Amino acid sequence: MHFSPSLIALLSVVPFSLTAPTVRTDEAEAAPYPLPLPDGLPSLNPEQLQQIEKQAHGTLPGLPLPTNISAVGATNLQLIAFNQFIEVAFYTELLYNVTNTVKGYEFPNEVEKEFALRSLETILAQEKVHTLTANEALRHFGRPTIKPCVYSFPVTTLQDAIVLAATFTSHLIGTLQDITERFAANNDNAMTGLIAATIANKGAQSGWFRVFLDKYPSEVPTLTASDVNFGFTYAQSFVVPGSCPNINEIKLKTFSPLDIVTRPEPRTHKIKISWTHVHDDKKEELLWLAYVNQLNVPNVVPLQIVSCDGRKSVAVAIFPYEEFLLNGLTIAAVVNRQGPFANAVSVAQSAVYGPGLIVVE
Ligand SMILES: *[C@@H]1O[C@H](CO)[C@@H](O)[C@H](O)[C@H]1NC(C)=O
Ligand SMILES: *[C@@H]1O[C@H](CO)[C@@H](O)[C@H](O)[C@H]1NC(C)=O
Repeated sequence: MHFSPSLIALLSVVPFSLTAPTVRTDEAEAAPYPLPLPDGLPSLNPEQLQQIEKQAHGTLPGLPLPTNISAVGATNLQLIAFNQFIEVAFYTELLYNVTNTVKGYEFPNEVEKEFALRSLETILAQEKVHTLTANEALRHFGRPTIKPCVYSFPVTTLQDAIVLAATFTSHLIGTLQDITERFAANNDNAMTGLIAATIANKGAQSGWFRVFLDKYPSEVPTLTASDVNFGFTYAQSFVVPGSCPNINEIKLKTFSPLDIVTRPEPRTHKIKISWTHVHDDKKEELLWLAYVNQLNVPNVVPLQIVSCDGRKSVAVAIFPYEEFLLNGLTIAAVVNRQGPFANAVSVAQSAVYGPGLIVVE
């Protein structure tokens, strides 16, 4: 085992204090969540950590971290921990649903089920390692660690769960690209390798989800890059409001949500989108829809407002699939200027509603 003795000491003497609500009454039976999990997460003793590493088929990174980190770099690590807890919750639930053959989670045969269970167990343990890696790095740098929330996932079938996993994994890969750039731009170069290694792990997961969904494993030549603020906003869509003990430590922007109403298809067509107003407002300002796909300059299309009743707006916009080969993940955001936008980060700076995630092919 290659974990450092100081880490073990910290893990055993500084347990998280969990203040999150502990009951999700409606789903308490189906979901063995929230934390702490039976294996101890998030507060582990050395034996529990060893057990998780064994299930993950590998250890926490053993290379020494730099001595200091930028404020932006600390926020990056907090966002990673925030996301990783969501994944731990999701795969814990999914594994439970498959293991217990919850309605909607049946497999056609035992061979497929056995392979899926082994794969999910490995993914879950690796996500636990990612969570610990981010929070232990924060502790090392003397920055606030992130505590888990209570989560809820909008899925009740195996198929929908894997579609969701494929989507949030693609978006996390996009967010980790932005995190890498922010580390590099803020003198935290020493952290970039850790993120590259994590992206590769997520890419392998994504390949399995895609094969499961009868898609070719590798999505696009270069995966869509996102923005940390989009990553933070999207992650919160899985959080039970008010259940996060210290989300306020994460100094990122949260946008108002954007709903993609039409299921997009691999052809150029109009899609319907909608959003809810924060303030009652009968009139929309001039808005556009920006699409971020792969490593291309974002496309901006005009929005036609179909209805606006003061609370909710519905609009249609062209999804220019054919012109730009919008395969894989596309991140849509309603923006308050026409652009041009250099990349996802510049779209986020002008975003009003978003991100809406579209996955084609
Ligand atoms: C860490 O500290 C060193 C020495 O003071 C400094 O040169 C470097 O820029 C700092 N790194 C960050 C990321 O702030
Ligand atoms: C597990 O099943 C329950 C009951 O159908 C459902 O509410 C929950 O969202 C499922 N979780 C996952 C991750 O599939």
